[in-house]
Amino acid sequence: MDLVVGATGMLGKQIALGLAKAGRKVRAMVRGGAARVEAKDLVAAGFDLVDGDLTRPETLAEVCAGMETVISGATSMPHGRDDGLRRVDLEGGLALIEAAERAGVPHFVYVSYSWNLREPSALETAKRSCENRLLPGRMTAVVLRPSFFMEAWLSPALGFDPRQGKARIYGSGEGKISYISMRNVVDFAVATTLKVERGPVALEMGGPEALSQLEVVQIFEQTLGKSFTLEHVPVEALRTQHASADPLQKTFAALMIGYARGDVIPEAHANAERFGVKLHSVADYARTFR
Ligand SMILES: NC(=O)c1ccc[n+]([C@@H]2O[C@H](COP(=O)([O-])OP(=O)(O)OC[C@H]3O[C@@H](n4cnc5c(N)ncnc54)[C@H](OP(=O)(O)O)[C@@H]3O)[C@@H](O)[C@H]2O)c1
Repeated sequence: MDLVVGATGMLGKQIALGLAKAGRKVRAMVRGGAARVEAKDLVAAGFDLVDGDLTRPETLAEVCAGMETVISGATSMPHGRDDGLRRVDLEGGLALIEAAERAGVPHFVYVSYSWNLREPSALETAKRSCENRLLPGRMTAVVLRPSFFMEAWLSPALGFDPRQGKARIYGSGEGKISYISMRNVVDFAVATTLKVERGPVALEMGGPEALSQLEVVQIFEQTLGKSFTLEHVPVEALRTQHASADPLQKTFAALMIGYARGDVIPEAHANAERFGVKLHSVADYARTFR
């Protein structure tokens, strides 16, 4: 049985469902357990639902007991309440790795992010600390390092609104990004759970092509047959936000600076081939808005 932590999340839920589709038995860790509305699909899928919380390490030993794999896509973002980046992403992430190792779990798949994103932030500290704890540890470790998810960064939550024909451009809009579909991140998580390789694996993951924000706007304009209105966020404004003492604001700014700079994953095709993943493009995503 495989444990999915963050199973009510956008990514975690799809990983849990993807594992089940691949024939695996799934345990889903949910804060508050089966009573949570967000757990409805997980209950309906017949998963073993367990109540656990990364900020309560005492809950984690039992949750990890007997698992073949632990897959974690948990994060306190985007709300980061109650110092969440430290308590959930950093301390909680490390506590989970510790608990899994102690429980004798053989395999751990951790969702990090692209190695190109190195701007200091509480999330950066959390991700790299968990990676550094996991990779040399006793479990066979997989660190997934996806680039920016198209479903998140090309969505109204971040100012990109195909229905309204609006796009927020961070920086000049010319830095290229290997946007990845969340569906492909799920494919990688499932594939690396099923195909355990010897030794630790850190996998840089991106979509089939690197595109600038301005090229993405063009693709949407052509696909939807309308022009977009652009709103520009200068890098200087992001730098000012990055100087904030608030870890959440600093983290948002660090991610947006990374986005403005660009994030090209040269190994995207080779890694997709290695794990049998068929990559979805931004054009495929744009067509879903027709
Ligand atoms: N968006 C991107 O472009 C991008 C790019 C690269 C990597 N990533 C990574 O992808 C992963 C998944 O992102 P997502 O958008 O799917 O996140 P999400 O929808 O915000 O889900 C986060 C999950 O973490 C859980 N969680 C939060 N606090 C917890 C705690 N104290 N104990 C246990 N679970 C807790 C949440 O559970 P509750 O329902 O209880 O809150 C939820 O299930 C993250 O690690 C993120 O850093 C994202």
